[in-house]
Amino acid sequence: MRVDRLTGFMGAEISGVDLRQPISDDLAQELRAALGAHQMIVLRDQHLDIADQKRLTRVFGPIMRLPYVEPMADDPEVIAVLKEASEVNVGVFGGDWHSDFSFLPNPPAGSVLNAVEVPQVGGDTVWSSQVVAYDSLPAHLREIVEGRMAIHLGAPYGVKHAPPMEERSSGSIRMTRGDPEADKETFHPAVITDPATGRKALFVNPIYTTRLDGMSVEESAPILAALFKHATKPDFSCRLRWNAGDVAVWDNRMSLHYATNDYDGVRRLLYRTTFSASAPQ
Ligand code: SIN
Repeated sequence: MRVDRLTGFMGAEISGVDLRQPISDDLAQELRAALGAHQMIVLRDQHLDIADQKRLTRVFGPIMRLPYVEPMADDPEVIAVLKEASEVNVGVFGGDWHSDFSFLPNPPAGSVLNAVEVPQVGGDTVWSSQVVAYDSLPAHLREIVEGRMAIHLGAPYGVKHAPPMEERSSGSIRMTRGDPEADKETFHPAVITDPATGRKALFVNPIYTTRLDGMSVEESAPILAALFKHATKPDFSCRLRWNAGDVAVWDNRMSLHYATNDYDGVRRLLYRTTFSASAPQ
């Protein structure tokens, strides 16, 4: 297995591995270590079927079923991330910087995205290392977040804050709305530690983090704005240009991600699986 870094701070391309073959314990260990070191790994030209993808997913943790997103009809553990060519001028799934479902008491540990049909140009996914974001936090922001909880809300899926149903977003992924559970505030540390590597990461994101503990939404707003700006600096990011057959794995707690929406008129389909771990600490 060969590991080539994709940027100075995060992301690595793994080669010399055929994920359609059984994954030995040694290989699984190497893949986990690569993910821990780089927060996102991509393996090109794998062309995995769903069974291969699930075997890869289990290398990183038990498969988790995502709430609020309708899975594939024949497999509740898989989501088809799809935008049809006919869907123009609409939002896409994941089209803002986020950590998936950070408002859950135990948010996903990471995900696997398996590219089936992708535009020749556009539809890249971008990640940002929150390990580097934490390491480079200016002192005044570090002082505020260190040892403090941040509050996350599943606003898009709740009753109080959910956007109107008619708001235009891709109809190819069906999201559930109107769950009062999603209106409840969830507390997570604003700085978390990866139990495997011991590295710390900033754990706030613009979609779900609404305030900092001990502060109102209004008091938190300028601080969160500064944190989000820092967390999504292009310097800390890695942009993946997909080819059909590629598969990427990312750490959902040590990084943020963003699905670009620049490919109207072209179909894009990726299969997505998610793995869990114990709650972020
Ligand atoms: C996501 O998982 O947030 C979507 C990523 C993508 O479609 O590029």
